[in-house]
Amino acid sequence: MTTFNDFPLQIASGVAFCNRVEERKKLKKLLLTGQHVWLQAHRRHGKSSLLLTTFDDLSRNNEKFTFAREDLAFASDRSSVIEKLCNSASALIIETLNKANTGKKADFFGVVANKLTLLFNRYSPNFSLYKGAVSMKFGKEPSLEMLNVTLSKLNEISKEYGVRSIFMIDEFQQLSKVDNNTFDIEGVIRHNLELATNVTYVLCGSERGLMEQALGDVDRPLYKHVYQFKIERIARACYFDHVMSLWKARWEDEMNVDVFDYVIDTTQRHPYYVNYLFAELWIGDCIPTLELAEKSWKKIVEEELSRNKKMILDLKNNEKKVLRALALKPTKEVQSSRFVKLSGVASGSMGRTISQLMDKDLTYYDSDLLTIVSPALAAIAVG
Ligand SMILES: Nc1ncnc2c1ncn2[C@@H]1O[C@H](COP(=O)(O)OP(=O)(O)OP(=O)(O)O)[C@@H](O)[C@H]1O
Ligand SMILES: [Mg+2]
Repeated sequence: MTTFNDFPLQIASGVAFCNRVEERKKLKKLLLTGQHVWLQAHRRHGKSSLLLTTFDDLSRNNEKFTFAREDLAFASDRSSVIEKLCNSASALIIETLNKANTGKKADFFGVVANKLTLLFNRYSPNFSLYKGAVSMKFGKEPSLEMLNVTLSKLNEISKEYGVRSIFMIDEFQQLSKVDNNTFDIEGVIRHNLELATNVTYVLCGSERGLMEQALGDVDRPLYKHVYQFKIERIARACYFDHVMSLWKARWEDEMNVDVFDYVIDTTQRHPYYVNYLFAELWIGDCIPTLELAEKSWKKIVEEELSRNKKMILDLKNNEKKVLRALALKPTKEVQSSRFVKLSGVASGSMGRTISQLMDKDLTYYDSDLLTIVSPALAAIAVG
């Protein structure tokens, strides 16, 4: 039995990563050509896994590329947001110097400290060495100017050494929560993103509404500045090949197609729930059966119910009614008499209810069918 996690609940990599061949190819091109990207998908749909796998692809083929990811999820004030961005940009600068250090000078620490002290003197940089890795922190209070200078030096140094630096900012919508509606941090990013020759910015965020405002609102600095890259769910045929090969390795037997179909249909190919359900089956000692799969899904739904109890209790009555109707039958026509009757929501209230559910990211249009995002929530809704 393999000890590798075939169906992780976190980042999927290596053999756990299924397909996305076309997306990887396209993303690779965008990153290498300096097309700044807004990576867009629902929560837990594989943004991070896709990016990290694409970086792996890149590093295999292209030595002269560096990558840093800054996650702003827990940055709660302006200062810490700016400081975090500066720290990641500094890490990229050092990594770029490291890539360029082809002769592998013994005193890399000294070389970096000297060079960066000259560049960032006014921010009192100090340097440390941990497990062979150099890092730089500024002694001065974080400021917009500091961010602007650090980002522009990142581009200058990347250009000087012919390196492509990729800077991913995750939970990007946090910027607008700490800037008192001035959008000035976004303004600094826009300025640097426009002038970047050797840095590609990748922006993602899990709060769709706020991300759409930050990147799609005509009054915001980054309006029409990034390439919108949408990730959809993985196709059934891709999952088929993926699971079949993992199944053979794990169970030394042919895949039970009924079990596969059950998982794919029940989870509606939501990547997190596909992995969650297969992970439950993989933990067992017996070859998965349909009965086991049904039991495991029931357990997952119960767990999700207790995890999301508050969110579910907070839903308005009309929202619950529409969710229940959608769980029974996703629809193209929310105003059709059939859907109005099925849901029990008056047609005059339907539009508002749907837009509330969309704002909460609980429903989406799959092609043109209005559908519930989470298969577990759909199962809860029909109880
Ligand atoms: N290509 C893939 N193959 C197999 N599993 C995947 C793939 N992409 C994502 N997953 C699985 O889907 C789930 C979500 O993945 P990931 O963390 O990459 O998504 P995310 O969109 O970055 O999530 P978040 O919104 O929390 O940032 C994880 O269980 C991961 O293992
Ligand atoms: Mg992620």
